[in-house]
Amino acid sequence: MKQPSKFRSAEKKQVAVFIASMLLSLSSIAATQPSANSDAEQVLRGEYLTRAGNCMGCHTTRGGKPYAGGRELVTPFGKFVTPNITPDNETGIGHWSEEDFWQALHYGKGRDGSYLYPVFPYTEYTKVTRQDADAIFAYLRSLTPVAQTNPPHKITSPYDNQFLLFLWRTWYFKEGVYEPDDSKSEEWNRGNYLVQGLGHCNACHTPRNVWGASQDDKLAGGEIMGTYWYAPSLISHREAGMGEWPVDEIAKLLSTGVTGHAVTSGPMATIVRQSLQYLSKDDMRAVAVYLQSLGEKRGEEAPRKIPPMPERVSRYLALGEPVYIKHCQECHGKSGEGVPGVYPPLAGNRSVTMTSPLNTIRSVLYGGFSPATAGNPRPYGMPPFQHIIRDHEIAWVVSYIRNAWGNFGSLVSPEDVDSSRGNEF
Ligand code: HEC
Ligand code: HEC
Ligand code: HEC
Repeated sequence: MKQPSKFRSAEKKQVAVFIASMLLSLSSIAATQPSANSDAEQVLRGEYLTRAGNCMGCHTTRGGKPYAGGRELVTPFGKFVTPNITPDNETGIGHWSEEDFWQALHYGKGRDGSYLYPVFPYTEYTKVTRQDADAIFAYLRSLTPVAQTNPPHKITSPYDNQFLLFLWRTWYFKEGVYEPDDSKSEEWNRGNYLVQGLGHCNACHTPRNVWGASQDDKLAGGEIMGTYWYAPSLISHREAGMGEWPVDEIAKLLSTGVTGHAVTSGPMATIVRQSLQYLSKDDMRAVAVYLQSLGEKRGEEAPRKIPPMPERVSRYLALGEPVYIKHCQECHGKSGEGVPGVYPPLAGNRSVTMTSPLNTIRSVLYGGFSPATAGNPRPYGMPPFQHIIRDHEIAWVVSYIRNAWGNFGSLVSPEDVDSSRGNEF
């Protein structure tokens, strides 16, 4: 009896010594190389956050070197050209310090102290924490420098004026890191942080005034400056409010670009492909939880009364039906039911009946693809119709799908079709 117990205690002691020495040697490794490990981690975290901010989307031309800039952004205030944000000393941000970068992302100030134009959505990125900004900077610093000089902006007078920009900032820019709302869950706060900050959803989904400034009704929907696309309200259930969607379905739409009921198209498909599909499961869920909380519930509003249709309206709509049968029915179905996950339904589809018919007209003119994502690698496409049917037929068929099968939307004229042409995004 005695022996084994003595043996056991000796063995235990040995094991303890072994573990202790292991721990010691591990901690000495950690003590000698703290920065090497945490630097690599910071760069990885920075890469993730940079994607969440879709910095590459604007700072890269089609087919160009990532982050070397040169992409033109056309706005009512002129043509802006994105700068090179690779760490090249001459043409990029090679000489920038962490503090310079923070001044740009958080305050919208260039390295020389000049005010940056809010086409760079620092008005939203100002919500990003210092820690996250430093990680993004660390990632950008880890890129291979690209020597590329980009042409200057072509800003329309009088907007090329720092004093005007100063006034603009005084009126419309509120600097400040996101402040969590303690009455809400951690998940909700994380979602809010991502949506209002790096996700810069407001840059497109919030209406702008004539000065190009976002209004106070955040995410209430607006036409995107310089493009012919309408980014729907993320609050109203008549548009893209998601108050009644299950969290999983919201997450599915934003990470794969399609669900049985909806597809993302145009600039939103680009955002899903370049940015949102890379969010971690937890972050995407947080975004979905937050978006769900923003959306109105249908019950809060009186039921919609569809007025009886005047004779001339039904005659106009009747013109669209044969166009639909000939060109659209094979994919979208006899009753606009679509094919789940393949062809979106048009019956009961909110993007089709939204107040603004812009996106629907553009889908028909230019066709489109939902984004290719890991969750939906080979999306189905819709052919462009601009050279197949004429403007008045497009007007008829769009008016028809906005009012067939229980849908209800305003009529569309051939002039509406024509005025929806313009830059493809
Ligand atoms: C919607 C397009 C857009 C997006 C998205 C965008 N930028 Fe920019 N960025 C611009 C434009 C345009 C400018 C030039 C502004 C100016 O010159 O006044 C700019 C300027 C900058 C500058 C200043 C560079 C310099 O040389 O002065 C930095 C740094 C920068 N962006 C980093 C980022 C980072 C980091 C992200 C992602 C978190 C990002 N940008 C996302 C459009 C964008
Ligand atoms: C570059 C502009 C742009 C940005 C940035 C943007 N969106 Fe959109 N979004 C659009 C446009 C345009 C549409 C309408 C086309 C469509 O329905 O896909 C849209 C549609 C949507 C829809 C409705 C999709 C459907 O068909 O039901 C949701 C939901 C949405 N966006 C969420 C977001 C969220 C969340 C963010 C931020 C993480 C965001 N968007 C950022 C332009 C943008
Ligand atoms: C070959 C199959 C095909 C044909 C034919 C076709 N579509 Fe589509 N349609 C699609 C696909 C696929 C999408 C999704 C594309 C996307 O995500 O951008 C789509 C999207 C749409 C949308 C956008 C729906 C949304 O939720 O944003 C509208 C509106 C639309 N089609 C109307 C029409 C009309 C009108 C016609 C006939 C003039 C037509 N389609 C013909 C396949 C088709």
